[in-house]
Amino acid sequence: MTPHIEAKKGEIAKVCILAGDPLRAKRIAETYLENPKLVNSVRNMLFYTGEYQGMTLTVGSHGMGVPSMGIYSYELYKFYDVDYIIRVGSAGAYNKDLKLFDIFQVEETHGENDFFKESGGANTRDVRPSKDLYELINQVAIDNKVDLKHGKAHCSDIFYNPESFDALKFAKDRNLDVVEMETYALFSNAILLNKKAACLLTISDSFTSDEIATPQQRQNGFDNMCELALKTALK
Ligand code: ADE
Repeated sequence: MTPHIEAKKGEIAKVCILAGDPLRAKRIAETYLENPKLVNSVRNMLFYTGEYQGMTLTVGSHGMGVPSMGIYSYELYKFYDVDYIIRVGSAGAYNKDLKLFDIFQVEETHGENDFFKESGGANTRDVRPSKDLYELINQVAIDNKVDLKHGKAHCSDIFYNPESFDALKFAKDRNLDVVEMETYALFSNAILLNKKAACLLTISDSFTSDEIATPQQRQNGFDNMCELALKTALK
């Protein structure tokens, strides 16, 4: 038990798939896991453990932003002996070649604060996922004919930037393809605690087009990404 997770040790699997939204975690668990058991509901940050094709997995939620992801990933790795975390989330596209519902794997992320340095890491705001897990996801995508895109994420701390903020210039200057809000904490904690992390994102909005996803389209795109994460977990 930790300040934020009430599960008993042993109730959380070695492999976790985490989504920002607790109700998404619930839906993934109820759709894909056999016998999902609710193991955490502190702050309504739902975690379920169940079986996926015979393998015990935990599907949970990490909330929004670097501090929230920082807490959940740290507690899972450090106090529940979790080895692998795959975040499944959504992102806004800066890169005009990315279309709505494309599935994207983060190759590197750029944070907006000193989370990594302040947590004991090097003085950099650019961190990467675990190489072997990143490559495994790419291979599972190829094997399953998933058209997986790759690139660099902006892990933003500010969803509502002022109008004076030129997002596309910020992205161009730093070679950023998408924006999301949690990878920097996840990858930092995995590096610092010698664990594995990766992140899959479905493009939900774009800075270069006015396309807007319907809720149904969002759901389908999200399902394809979750299936890729679950198939990777089996490896
Ligand atoms: N996640 C999905 N779209 C986003 C955006 N535009 N900014 C930050 N995080 C996001």
